[in-house]
Amino acid sequence: MIILSSDYITARQAAEKWNISDRRVRVLCCDGKISGAVKDGKSYKIPAAAVKPADGRGKKTTAFFAARWLKWENEIVGILNAANAVEFTQPKYNDIVSLYTRGAKSWTSEQFSEFLSERVISRDRRDIEKILFRCGLSRYDVLKIAEITRGIHPKDLLWIAHAEDEQLDTAITDVFDSVFHQKIDLVGDSIDTPEGYNIKRYGVYGGHYGIYKQRISPLTTDVESEIAVYLLAQKLGVPCCPACRIDKNTVFSTFLYDFSKEYIVHFRRLFDSARSGNEYQNLISVRPQYKNDIARMILLDFITRQDDRHLSNISIKMSGKSESFYPLYDNGRSLFYEDTEEMVTQAVADPKRYATGFGYFGTYLDYVQEISKYHGGLKGLINFNVPKDEVAGILNEAGFTGYRFNGALEWIIKTLKMLRELA
Ligand SMILES: Nc1ncnc2c1ncn2[C@@H]1O[C@H](COP(=O)(O)OP(=O)(O)OP(=O)(O)O)[C@@H](O)[C@H]1O
Ligand SMILES: [Mg+2]
Repeated sequence: MIILSSDYITARQAAEKWNISDRRVRVLCCDGKISGAVKDGKSYKIPAAAVKPADGRGKKTTAFFAARWLKWENEIVGILNAANAVEFTQPKYNDIVSLYTRGAKSWTSEQFSEFLSERVISRDRRDIEKILFRCGLSRYDVLKIAEITRGIHPKDLLWIAHAEDEQLDTAITDVFDSVFHQKIDLVGDSIDTPEGYNIKRYGVYGGHYGIYKQRISPLTTDVESEIAVYLLAQKLGVPCCPACRIDKNTVFSTFLYDFSKEYIVHFRRLFDSARSGNEYQNLISVRPQYKNDIARMILLDFITRQDDRHLSNISIKMSGKSESFYPLYDNGRSLFYEDTEEMVTQAVADPKRYATGFGYFGTYLDYVQEISKYHGGLKGLINFNVPKDEVAGILNEAGFTGYRFNGALEWIIKTLKMLRELA
């Protein structure tokens, strides 16, 4: 892995950033509480994206709440008092709320705890130790965990607001950023892209948790590409997280994991030393059992002219003792999302020369050819026979127009044909 010095900060810089002493930073590094920190001679190098560890030194983190609100998305359904008893204002708000309350107007604190115990992060979640640490807890405590995770659970939209007007999307962003997500994985991603941060936000759409992503710039069609790739992936038979249009400049990517029990790990984390120039072989070497999933991803990326499949855009899902290849996400930088008309014309005229690159060396076409050799053809990996009018329908539905519509259509049709010939 190439490590740029700008990826790291010193203990002193971290101390300043987190408003704690140098000494404390060094102690945290020494205790292994800052993931990714590496010893460099006598000092430490700390990943620039490292998160300040929660203070786990027995400080009481429980704030005192005079009241809290039990909400369904942004609607109040009950009020909690300081002793954790619940008064329902809308015990029959919807079928699911009714199922929990059975019509009762109130719950004792025991009933509330029982309700929470099914919603907090499971003890069996494989990274539970890390999660507890991030929560500043030294042991599993249902009430305290619920206070930090707000009792959010992927099965419904109930959660605990700490202010009457608090909105779920703000609360969930805090919870995801501080508890469920390991920001360290962002090293080498958004932070370093010339455009700076993509504005992302966790939230709910259509009853599912996920992430809202904003258009990169007014000239790019990444929002349209994200949706088109998802729709196309369904036709091709490649597992992919649903991407839905929210408004002109926003797309929503749905999480396909139960974050109370499961978590996802970026492939970046599976490599601890330098990797070879052949990214396909790199991936297979760490997870041979996913060779077909990886092959399918590469075929889809070739067909969609993917331009950003770095190791944090590929993940595995960890559930209990087992793991699986996580459906694809972050597919927006594809299908000529930032290309000029001249570039699109040239690319479509010669897809062999204009296939995008993957990893340090090689284009997707090189990798497709390698896969074909390795698998003895491409049969059975994806459906190569998506008719042109269906592709046009998908691009239309995704919002493609003008030269990028024509270019994307021609590119997809031509690459599908090339794949059929290789199959
Ligand atoms: N559908 C999803 N399921 C699970 N996690 C997701 C999903 N979409 C995004 N994420 C998480 O959020 C992170 C950022 O999202 P995404 O990669 O789509 O955004 P991006 O703006 O392209 O950022 P980057 O430049 O970091 O890749 C991902 O690396 C992943 O950890
Ligand atoms: Mg990404």
